[in-house]
Amino acid sequence: MRVIAIDGPAGSGKSTVARAVAAALALDYLDTGAMYRAVTFAAMRRGIDPEDTDLVAELARALSLEVADTVTVDGVDATIEIRSPEVTRAVSTVAANPAVRRELVQRQREWAAAHGGGVIEGRDIGSVVFPDATLKVYLTADDGERAMRRSKEMLNLQYDQVAADIARRDHADSTRQASPLGVADDAVRLDTTSRPVEQVVEEVLRLAAERR
Ligand code: C5P
Repeated sequence: MRVIAIDGPAGSGKSTVARAVAAALALDYLDTGAMYRAVTFAAMRRGIDPEDTDLVAELARALSLEVADTVTVDGVDATIEIRSPEVTRAVSTVAANPAVRRELVQRQREWAAAHGGGVIEGRDIGSVVFPDATLKVYLTADDGERAMRRSKEMLNLQYDQVAADIARRDHADSTRQASPLGVADDAVRLDTTSRPVEQVVEEVLRLAAERR
């Protein structure tokens, strides 16, 4: 099974690069961040406190979840809502819940088995979910550039607000007990600061060709 793991912090270019690599290699693409966001969205919609670890874990296990070009949560299209500032603010709390992680990691492995591998992006894909991935890439970029990229996507938010949200989320994701954001020993680190996307994609494709 060919799995290409693309990890890195918010705004490092993961989604853009992962989608382009998947298209070039005719592999399917999975955004695991969207899965953590979907659980967070479902909890908020049901009035469940994201801090309530037991209830959120129970919800994650019961949730019907489809993450493809659109994200469907219990039959409702939540593609737009999972990117809202409210979900973005609460998602790191939900992602720090070990029982939620166990459930979603299992679903990610099942997804890969059903799709014959794929390009999978997240925070712990190379380190935890697929330690035997064909290729592990860890994308980084300067803090300022990451905030700039995100604030261009979030038209209704100011740069300072986005920068503060990213810094807080980076900190929470890197310091949590369960599978913190980290670089797998055998991951290739690529700094995407000031580099055109096409160039980064080319480099990942070159690395993938070496590891066929
Ligand atoms: O990639 P994105 O920014 O949409 O991810 C949202 C959040 O989901 C991250 O801040 C992190 O808390 C969590 N996440 C995770 N493990 C993954 C993917 C995302 O903990 N594999």
